[in-house]
Amino acid sequence: MKDVINKTKFSTVENRKFWNNYAENAKNKTIGAHSDKHIVELENNFIENILKSKKPRNLLEIGCGNGQRTIKFSKYCTGKTLGVDYSSEMMKQANLLLQKQDKNIQKKVSFEVHDINHFTSTILFDIVISCRCIVNQASTSDQLRLFEKIHEHLQPGGSFIIAEQSEEGLRYLDSLRKEFGLNQIKVPWHNLPIKESYILSKLKNKFEIKQLNRLGNFYYISRVIHPAQKFPEEPDPNAKINDLALKAELIFQESNESTKNHLEKYGSHLLIHLVKK
Ligand SMILES: C[S@@+](CC[C@H](N)C(=O)[O-])C[C@H]1O[C@@H](n2cnc3c(N)ncnc32)[C@H](O)[C@@H]1O
Repeated sequence: MKDVINKTKFSTVENRKFWNNYAENAKNKTIGAHSDKHIVELENNFIENILKSKKPRNLLEIGCGNGQRTIKFSKYCTGKTLGVDYSSEMMKQANLLLQKQDKNIQKKVSFEVHDINHFTSTILFDIVISCRCIVNQASTSDQLRLFEKIHEHLQPGGSFIIAEQSEEGLRYLDSLRKEFGLNQIKVPWHNLPIKESYILSKLKNKFEIKQLNRLGNFYYISRVIHPAQKFPEEPDPNAKINDLALKAELIFQESNESTKNHLEKYGSHLLIHLVKK
C-alpha cells in the first residue's frame, strides 16, 4: 500500500512545461483548462452556492490557471482574492485578463507565481479553492501533503472547496461503461485521480465534510447513455443530451437528500466542501 501511495505518476517539470505551453490556448477560455463546459458549470454552481452562503473576507485559489474562474469567484468575496499557479505563462494570461476588468476587481484580485507546495502566507484564508490542482500532483502522498498544507493556511472554521476527480468514482463509472460495451475513460497523463477513501480517512481529524457530490446523474447520462447510443461514433460533448444531463444533475441535487441516489457512486467527479476543525 505504501508503494502505491508514494508512487509518482509523472514529472513535475513536465507537468509545469505542459501548462506553460497550454496557456496560450487557454487565454480566452471562460471555462479555464477544462474541455467540458457542462462540468465547469456544475463545478461553478457547487462552489458559488457555498461562497454565497459564506460571504468570505478573503479567498485563495490554488492552481488557478488562466484566472477566469478566480475573477468570477472574487465577486463573492468582500476582501482580497489571491490566485496562484506555478505556470508563469498561465499567470501572465491571468494578469492580462485582470487588466481588462473594472477597477474594483483589479483592486481586489492578484495573481502570483508559486508552487503551492512551497507557498507560505502569514494571512490565513476564509476560503481556499482547488479546481483540479490536487489531481495535478504526482503522487497520492503529495496530494495528502497538499490537503495538510491548505489546512494550515485556513482560518478555524474556514472552507476548502475542491473540484477534482475520484479514483473510486472512475472505477464504478468504468465498470458501468463496460456493461454497455464502452472502453475505460482515458485519464490524462498529468492527472492522478484522488484515492478518496484513503485521503478522506487520513483527514478526518482535520476537516469535517460538509458536502460531497460526484455528479453521478450527469456522468451516467453523458459518459454512459450518450456514448452508448452514439457508438461506434464518438459522442459530442456539446450535444443537447448533455444539456439535459446537466439539468437532471441539478434537479437530483435539489431533491430530498434522505432518498438514496443510486447513481451518485457512478460519478467520477469529486466536489467536496471541507471545513477546518
Ligand atoms: C487542470 S489545470 C486547472 C486550472 C484551473 N484551476 C481551471 O479550473 O481552469 C491545473 C493547474 O494547476 C497548476 N498546478 C499544478 N501543480 C501546481 C503546484 N504545485 N503549484 C501551483 N500550481 C500548480 C497547473 O499549472 C495548472 O494551471
